[in-house]
Amino acid sequence: MKTLLDIRASLFGSASVSSELADRFVARWLAEHPDGRVVRRDLLPGAFPSLTAARYTAFRTPGNERTREQQDDVAFSDELVAELKAADEIVLTAPMYNFSVPATLRDYFDHVARPGLTFSYTADGPEGLLRGKKTYVFITRGGRYNGAADTQRPYLEQFLGFIGLSDVEFVLAEGLAMGDDERRQSLDSAREHVDALARLAA
Ligand SMILES: Cc1cc2nc3c(=O)[nH]c(=O)nc-3n(C[C@H](O)[C@H](O)[C@H](O)COP(=O)(O)O)c2cc1C
Repeated sequence: MKTLLDIRASLFGSASVSSELADRFVARWLAEHPDGRVVRRDLLPGAFPSLTAARYTAFRTPGNERTREQQDDVAFSDELVAELKAADEIVLTAPMYNFSVPATLRDYFDHVARPGLTFSYTADGPEGLLRGKKTYVFITRGGRYNGAADTQRPYLEQFLGFIGLSDVEFVLAEGLAMGDDERRQSLDSAREHVDALARLAA
């Protein structure tokens, strides 16, 4: 039985474009994996904590020296890391907000970048510890970005690779604010891409 971890980051929850694409992929993935398990993680503002000095200090404090509050903080981060480790495949929505990813997705990254658990440093440099997990990233954007103008996808590639998620498929729906025709074409082509990926994932 395969497990798909389904991480959603849009401000607009299930009403978002990135969620529509992810829903489409997950429905097709479940059709191909009838006994598959989907674990959902919604990163909604206000419901997901930001990293603070106290939380970061808790991560770095040895287990037997942690206060009760530090134990709770670490337990939450450990739960997120355990979800990643247990997943065979990962879905991640990443709408572009102000040339980057949603703040809650950054907060999520801050909670799962844990030395010794998701990455380690070796004599040859950093080594990601989450290996062998195919990751599907659904990017939605109002504008269009190419090459050096793209401040989001390279960042995601770098972060995901840092924790060992280097087998990544990106689905892009761009130009969503560039007129009805552009939006329709972009969504049609992103939906086709989703369907093709879901067939390959079978
Ligand atoms: C707060 C905010 C900031 C945005 N910033 C950008 C941006 O920097 N570049 C861009 O191309 N689109 C930007 N957009 C447009 C979104 O990327 C676009 O609406 C996308 O569909 C959002 O995906 P979602 O519906 O999954 O949340 C922004 C939208 C919001 C709400």
